Amino acid sequence: MKPLSPDEVKKMQKVGRLAAELLQHLGQYVTAGTTTNEIDKIAHDWTLSKGATPAPLGYHGFPKSICTSLNECICHGVPDDRPLQDGDAINIDVTCILDGFHGDTSSMFFVGPASEKAQAISDCAYEAMHKGIEAITPGGKTGDIGFAINKFVTRKGYYPVREIGGHGIGSEFHGDPFVPSYGKKGKGEPLRPWTCITVEPMINETGADIVEFSIPDSTIKYYETADKTLSAQFEHTVLITDEGYEILTQV
Ligand code: MF3
Ligand code: CO
Ligand code: CO
Repeated sequence: MKPLSPDEVKKMQKVGRLAAELLQHLGQYVTAGTTTNEIDKIAHDWTLSKGATPAPLGYHGFPKSICTSLNECICHGVPDDRPLQDGDAINIDVTCILDGFHGDTSSMFFVGPASEKAQAISDCAYEAMHKGIEAITPGGKTGDIGFAINKFVTRKGYYPVREIGGHGIGSEFHGDPFVPSYGKKGKGEPLRPWTCITVEPMINETGADIVEFSIPDSTIKYYETADKTLSAQFEHTVLITDEGYEILTQV
């Protein structure tokens, strides 16, 4: 991705804040009996009411406005009519487009009180995301981020997903570079000042394979753990600056 102009940086800051507000707004609807289709509709209408567009809708045929990944679902879960139940752990992933720029963020939510193991893996994903973000330096490499994430996650006894990761973002939803959740310091692609990336580690409870499922009429796949154990994820969109970074998807 090429460096953003000051005006484009402002647009990324604006859409980042909007996506964060949407995600925060959706949290109150994560209750037993609510369906993810209902949350999807709320997200869709809220986004349009702000003059923005939900990026997932129609993206490579994706049928909904948000991704809702429950329990063993790793990412790209498609909202449906199953009512949420006490004990469910759900990642909601939102991406808004405003003035031609994208803001992408996700968080874990719990239906009723979180089980100890769901809370623990979710905390790990949250902290891993921040470890990854803190490893960003202008002129650094994507491997710095992956190294920091992998080190933290493996020390906690969890397994970072290697096949899927973060990405460049801006006028495109998904651009260069790929931002892995493993790697070597100083390796990978350069982190260029005045470009944006997402840091979005997916963390699994076990080292079981991940299974890919197709979505009707879409080339997007969704992923689950083969052994149906838990997976957790958090995501921020981050601006790389001359001096460091700025997290854009904060309210
Ligand atoms: N928001 C997801 C990400 O973090 C991408 C979702 S693509 C979709 O990259 F088509 F599934 F919506
Ligand atoms: Co996302
Ligand atoms: Co993303």
